[in-house]
Amino acid sequence: MAEKILIIDDDIDTLKLVGLMLERQGYEISVASNGTIGLQKTSSIVPDLILLDVMMPDMDGYEVTKRLRADPSISSIPIIMFTAKTMVDDKVAGFEAGVDDYLTKPTHPAELTAHVKAVLARTAHARSEPSERARSIAFVGARGGLGTSTIALNVSIALQHQGHDVLLAELSPGRGTLALDLHIAEPVGLSHLLSRSLKDIHLRSVDSEIIAHKTGLRLLLSSFYPREAELEQAVPQMEAIVANLTAMCTTVVLDMGSGIRPHTQALLSNCDRVVLVVEPIYPATMIGQTLVEELETRGIGRHKVSLALITRERTSLQVPWQQVSSDLGLELAGIISPAPEQAHQASQSGTPLIVLHPAGLVTDQIHKLADHLSTFLLPVRGRTRL
Ligand SMILES: Nc1ncnc2c1ncn2[C@@H]1O[C@H](COP(=O)(O)OP(=O)(O)OP(=O)(O)O)[C@@H](O)[C@H]1O
Ligand SMILES: [Mg+2]
Repeated sequence: MAEKILIIDDDIDTLKLVGLMLERQGYEISVASNGTIGLQKTSSIVPDLILLDVMMPDMDGYEVTKRLRADPSISSIPIIMFTAKTMVDDKVAGFEAGVDDYLTKPTHPAELTAHVKAVLARTAHARSEPSERARSIAFVGARGGLGTSTIALNVSIALQHQGHDVLLAELSPGRGTLALDLHIAEPVGLSHLLSRSLKDIHLRSVDSEIIAHKTGLRLLLSSFYPREAELEQAVPQMEAIVANLTAMCTTVVLDMGSGIRPHTQALLSNCDRVVLVVEPIYPATMIGQTLVEELETRGIGRHKVSLALITRERTSLQVPWQQVSSDLGLELAGIISPAPEQAHQASQSGTPLIVLHPAGLVTDQIHKLADHLSTFLLPVRGRTRL
């Protein structure tokens, strides 16, 4: 099969000329006329090599390189940077950003082919062993305080019991509650990472902020210091952190808090499954409907969304689950019954509910929800349910 090369350049003549030269050599060519389109095409095509111009109006080649390198699913794609300049400083900046090789414009066809062949040969080994990307599940509450974090935590533990290698990330800087529920002091992992510059977010830095809970679950936690809530504005960092998490496990569970926020928008679009937590009582049902419609306008169709109902009020007040499911147009993935005492005991003892009450009704319901979600995950290899 022909190797795929993506050319990112705002100069249409270069795109045509270089594209034609390489097409003649038997490569499959795609083109992008700016950095933003280039990044999108990289994710969809996953080329074997990228030829990248340095000077582009929307985003320069260094920035494109940094963003590519921050996303583990595409970070290993080799990059040859095109430049009209031959200044040593520019080349150093490019190599620092993660460029593999340089070509100076205008490029002689023989030189172009030689560099392309050399870089492809050097990286052939990495291409022959594609690692399977982790699957990600996002939990979103129709509104705050419903129990979204409690469900995300307990489902994560249930999935881990099934043998999935799970990492749970709570993406609510300054508004975290999981550390309090699990009695983990200093939950500063996410805040530390969001305060870094994009180039300092990589596997090593993300890994160093992950906490292993006594249940074996690995967590990236949000602090509960209100002043850190502003860190949610660090959207590119948030996306880079999550991209790195997907390279560190088989299943990433994201506790996105309630509603759609600027820092969760793009992440939601990339998730394999979204679980919408709704209380079957007005106005949560109404907010749930609006959320589903919003998600749809952002390309997250109803087929990607599962409904989890959490019932905390008297049955007489509740809308029947069939009606909620049909009003929202979502498949029901699970119902969680009221368990205020158990939830309180769990939080007070720092032990997740399904660990503290392994035989309870809510524990069964959590396992059922986890069973439903596991159908969207990578198969478990070599481990059995505990
Ligand atoms: N099934 C349940 N029955 C009763 N109370 C519950 C249940 N699940 C969780 N709770 C309690 O509800 C409260 C809110 O839970 P949690 O923090 O999980 O909600 P949340 O939706 O994540 O809130 P936030 O909007 O703050 O992120 C906690 O005190 C928790 O112990
Ligand atoms: Mg929460």
